[in-house]
Amino acid sequence: MGLFPFSKSFPVLFLLAMLLFSPTVSGIGANWGTQSTHRLPPEIVVRMLKDNGIQKVKLFDADYDTLKALGKSGLEVMVGIPNDMLSSMGSLKAAEKWVSKNVSVHINDNNVNIRYVAVGNEPYLTTYNGTYLRTTLPAMQNIQTALVKAGLGSQVKVTCPLNADVYESSNTFPSGGDFRAEIHGYVSQLVKFLSDNGCPFTINIYPFISLYIDPNFPVEYAFFDGNATPLNDGGTIYSNMFDANHDTLVWALQKNGFGNVPIIIGEIGWPTDGDRNANAQLAQRFNQGFMQHISGGKGTPMRPGPVDAYLFSLIDEDAKSIQPGNFERHWGILTYDGLPKYSLNLGTTNSGSLVPARNVKYLERKWCVLKPNAKLDDPQIAPSMSYACGLADCTSLGYQTSCGGLDARGNISYAFNSYYQINNQLDDACKFSGLATVTKSDPSTGTCRFGLMIEPYYGGAQPKCGYTKTTLALILFLWTIV
Ligand SMILES: *[C@@H]1O[C@H](CO)[C@@H](O)[C@H](O)[C@H]1NC(C)=O
Ligand SMILES: *[C@@H]1O[C@H](CO)[C@@H](O)[C@H](O)[C@H]1NC(C)=O
Ligand SMILES: *[C@@H]1O[C@H](CO)[C@@H](O)[C@H](O)[C@H]1NC(C)=O
Repeated sequence: MGLFPFSKSFPVLFLLAMLLFSPTVSGIGANWGTQSTHRLPPEIVVRMLKDNGIQKVKLFDADYDTLKALGKSGLEVMVGIPNDMLSSMGSLKAAEKWVSKNVSVHINDNNVNIRYVAVGNEPYLTTYNGTYLRTTLPAMQNIQTALVKAGLGSQVKVTCPLNADVYESSNTFPSGGDFRAEIHGYVSQLVKFLSDNGCPFTINIYPFISLYIDPNFPVEYAFFDGNATPLNDGGTIYSNMFDANHDTLVWALQKNGFGNVPIIIGEIGWPTDGDRNANAQLAQRFNQGFMQHISGGKGTPMRPGPVDAYLFSLIDEDAKSIQPGNFERHWGILTYDGLPKYSLNLGTTNSGSLVPARNVKYLERKWCVLKPNAKLDDPQIAPSMSYACGLADCTSLGYQTSCGGLDARGNISYAFNSYYQINNQLDDACKFSGLATVTKSDPSTGTCRFGLMIEPYYGGAQPKCGYTKTTLALILFLWTIV
């Protein structure tokens, strides 16, 4: 109040302002990871982001070609420092070098709209056994000092994406929220640093994981349709896990004296394969429900207002570790090659559905399959299959996954083909002791898509991702000595 001159036109002006500065302006973001054997060229991804009206992108490193492609795009960028660099960032000199090479240069020479540096990625995750507890905050402090020294202190903010396992509730209600007891000191010091420097708290929230690890988790509570038995927290009603989890964090922040720290949802999403609850239908339901949920700018009961969020993820990554589960390579709203997996209205385009990547270059239309006359009891089958699956990607095989319906021959062909495609359809990658053959007819059936790779991307000057000639030769050499 007091900001607007009161007059008869006030309601009109107010409505206009609401339209112009409505929460949709803050927009939706997407995580863009690059742990793939075959990366889409960054320029194609940037174009795809823009075509889809995605305004913000979160990266896990500071890859030169990626940032170069983001130059002049106008997209807001969060660059990342991987966990294995945290301890070296304990040196101010190294932090200054990092900021100079990976932030300043891109802002000054390339016009990249870098707004955040994510220092580490879920470094306090329980599964890391405390490995990064002592190195995260010093790294954040040094990066902050380096940013200020580079004159970027107000433009670029430091943050640290944390998993929701850094807080818990003593009584299952959001109001019982506090930082997890074993790391309470570390988290509150980190939040104090964020608060002192006007930086946001970044949190990753995953109802899918709750469902994955707890078979008794109430399924409907993961979604936004209001079908779950609501949770009554002293009169505040929670009908979905996102709100309840988010507000557990708000209570934890408040309890520790940091109730005003801004919150960014660093990752939220649903995978489409590799588990019985991972499919396009449920992913569509979750992501569309989430978009709907935040579209009104209503926020959560404890934090009314716009929600600042990055979907996880933009595209699939077939080289990610499957230690968390086979679903880990299937989080994309689009496939690794930029095809929409399901209809999703982000509220950002006229069409109201996802726009595919353009000008994607594929390898030849051919696949590697088990020879029709090969015998299923051939002793070479088992070692061939485990070899292929070990080096390629068989996460779509298995109970209730997209290729779960294949018979034994289909399974073997799937594995052989995955290995063949990942090795850029090299003739020698479709041998398997004479059990395999190349076919020009697409073996895909029903929901099961037999991969066809895109042309490898080697980056600007030197090979960076995908398989280089040397690794290929090495893999094939190892294969011949098995
Ligand atoms: C800049 O970021 C890249 C990619 O994350 C990293 O490999 C490189 O070491 C960084 N540069 C410096 C000077 O720290
Ligand atoms: C954490 O500890 C467990 C049990 O001691 C061990 O199996 C695991 O490999 C450790 N993880 C890391 C990342 O150190
Ligand atoms: C196919 O492979 C999956 C996973 O490797 C396995 O669970 C399934 O039993 C196999 N199916 C057949 C028919 O061999």
